[in-house]
Amino acid sequence: MVSFRHAVKTFPAKSGEVRAVDDVTLDIRTGEIFGVIGYSGAGKSTLVRLINALEPATAGEVIVDGQDVTALPERELRRVRAGIGMIFQQFNLLSSRTVAGNVGYALAVAGWPREERKDRIAELLDFVGLADKARQYPSQLSGGQKQRVGIARALATNPKILLADEATSALDPETTQDVLDLLRRVNSELGVTVVVITHEMDVVKYACDRVAVMEGGKVVEHGDVYSVFARPEHRATRRFVGTALRDRPSPAALERLRHRHPGRIVTVAVREDGASSTDLTRALREHPVDGTIIYGGIVEIAERPYGSLTLELAGEDAAIAGFITDLSSTTSVLDLGTAEHPLADPDAVGPRATTASPEGDEGPSSPTLPQAVDTDRLADADSPTWNPFTHLRRWRR
Ligand SMILES: Nc1ncnc2c1ncn2[C@@H]1O[C@H](COP(=O)(O)OP(=O)(O)OP(=O)(O)O)[C@@H](O)[C@H]1O
Ligand SMILES: [Mg+2]
Repeated sequence: MVSFRHAVKTFPAKSGEVRAVDDVTLDIRTGEIFGVIGYSGAGKSTLVRLINALEPATAGEVIVDGQDVTALPERELRRVRAGIGMIFQQFNLLSSRTVAGNVGYALAVAGWPREERKDRIAELLDFVGLADKARQYPSQLSGGQKQRVGIARALATNPKILLADEATSALDPETTQDVLDLLRRVNSELGVTVVVITHEMDVVKYACDRVAVMEGGKVVEHGDVYSVFARPEHRATRRFVGTALRDRPSPAALERLRHRHPGRIVTVAVREDGASSTDLTRALREHPVDGTIIYGGIVEIAERPYGSLTLELAGEDAAIAGFITDLSSTTSVLDLGTAEHPLADPDAVGPRATTASPEGDEGPSSPTLPQAVDTDRLADADSPTWNPFTHLRRWRR
């Protein structure tokens, strides 16, 4: 339905030019809810504005419903735009018009005969749950209600595509949920393809089928939501997941943990496939190693478990090495070293450590990446010692 082929958009800037969209090739399928996620300035808004040619592409193709919009004359573009609705973070309602007036205005602009407008307005306000607010003015509405008006207005002319640019960013979490539920109904009941731009992973997690992650004008990763978030390949994606989940200690939190727990610290991933708390329990039973959970979090993404647990390990060095090697064969284990020999988490997010130490979050180029485990020093693995769930129970109290 929407295909970007080597799409580029540049803007003139003081120092040369900004490549807001930099060689993007991507397909958005008919009938899906597609998320575009990225930090501020990543190029998300510019990318979606290429779809309705609010911004003409500098190079490449943007194919909407079989037509390359970069090659269309203005008159044809108007027809394409009529099939695309858009909603915004700041709602962009006309304050001098009532709720019904705002929706009616969109119909008038699209050339609907006056006598047909009234029924259409009533139908739309009913769909978004605002039938009783038709005569109110935007200033009398809550944020969530304003966005519902925005959605009714965007749907007025029966578009096939709805673009939502940070449509929930000004709303509290509960209202966000309501608006996302409405967008899901727009998708499932009206068959509208929805493109959701956001910097919140929760929005993507809740509403989207597939997602593209943008950084520096490029789509650095895309696919279905669980694969992208559970097995993130790009650092930007890993940071999103870490920020949303807070399951891994920030550099500052890790520094505090090291004071309380000077021993070997590891972070163990919890995923749907094989690797899980079960493997952790087994490995702790089979190796002469004690483990104490000191940080962590597990949530569901696309109804499958996702997160991590951070543990302090106690035991002989060789036993700990054996434990890590064993567990690493089924799940991701990140070795964070000890207070004396700290190792950095290259994907740590959040507050930095206060003291200058080799564990700053300098990224993958950091000289202190996790060290390889010495597998020649494997210990006998036969000492059942610890069950993490006993600890979890104690932890909860
Ligand atoms: N009209 C413009 N003129 C010049 N530069 C622009 C223009 N629009 C966007 N840019 C630049 O292009 C880059 C991408 O901007 P864009 O608004 O697409 O990012 P974004 O991902 O939507 O960010 P945000 O989350 O803050 O909305 C930024 O560096 C921005 O400064
Ligand atoms: Mg934007």
